[in-house]
Amino acid sequence: MNITREKVVSTLIKDKRVPQLETASAFASTNIALCKYWGKRDIELNLPMTSSLSVSMGELGASTKISLSGTEEIWLNGEAVSTNTLFYQRLIEFFDLFRPTADTKFKIETDTNIPVAAGLASSACGFAATVKALDKLFAWEQSDSHLSILARLGSGSACRSIYDGFVLWNAGIAKDGMDSYAEDLEYVWPELRVGILLVDSKQKSISSRDAMQATVETCPYYKLWPETVNKAIKVVDEALEQRDFWALGTTAEANSLAMHALMLATTPPIIYSQGGTLELMQKVWRLRAEGLPVFFTQDAGPNLKLLFLQKDEEKLKEQFAQMRVVAPFAKVKESTHV
Ligand code: PMV
Repeated sequence: MNITREKVVSTLIKDKRVPQLETASAFASTNIALCKYWGKRDIELNLPMTSSLSVSMGELGASTKISLSGTEEIWLNGEAVSTNTLFYQRLIEFFDLFRPTADTKFKIETDTNIPVAAGLASSACGFAATVKALDKLFAWEQSDSHLSILARLGSGSACRSIYDGFVLWNAGIAKDGMDSYAEDLEYVWPELRVGILLVDSKQKSISSRDAMQATVETCPYYKLWPETVNKAIKVVDEALEQRDFWALGTTAEANSLAMHALMLATTPPIIYSQGGTLELMQKVWRLRAEGLPVFFTQDAGPNLKLLFLQKDEEKLKEQFAQMRVVAPFAKVKESTHV
């Protein structure tokens, strides 16, 4: 019999079902995968086919405030979210896992400083911030690995947003997913920069959830993916240890392209790139051929994230005027969040 999310939640939080506060808030950074998660072995529990490796994005993320309330309400960036949206339904279903009684209602207010659903992992930081806030509200005092498991139940990549810096999500093998959680890697790379290039910040046409499932089910090359990611994780891990930026960049870029190649060979095909995405890729390759060490990675959307080092920041800002630059290892300024 399949294990349910409810079962995982009760194993972890046991009888700590009564809120201990009226309101609680938390912040979580979004994360960008350098070696991607693409495909689940268990859809209900968001258990991945493979491990993945990411970097958290410092002050770029979501702040979530949860309050006990007379009515159920969800607010996103200051606007009430309509009850008939997928976003509302997904979040309410997630809260159902923790509700002590059917008539316990929550007001959930999330503020993000990134475009929602533009392939910039807004669900990752949203669910991670939610789980951290719930931990305070109910005084669960869960370990980070347990918070990572709880965040995964909301969205797979959210399990990596529990931590700062470089993060490895171990796929695990257990049926109940108790060994499928993220851990922080100790490497620190203060000079690393991530540049965000928006091509289009509108809602994506197909969710990563549906897209990865279609890939697993219909892409004839999906069977090559586990080995591809595992190799990439090994190379990136070594690159982080050696501070070998070239190895990091080439591997991350190739891994992202391989993920999109799988989608091209899915039936029906899934293409997140737009014309602007390809133009930016070509510009990155041109700059690299001219000697500038810059690489890109792309998630389930048309936008690109550039990887480069601090020493090249000014040159790249001249090339990409609209680029937002994030220093993943700069201290997160708590005071700027809810
Ligand atoms: O966790 P989800 O369902 O948002 O999927 C994330 C998928 C990618 O962003 C494309 C890859 C990744 O590892 O974050």
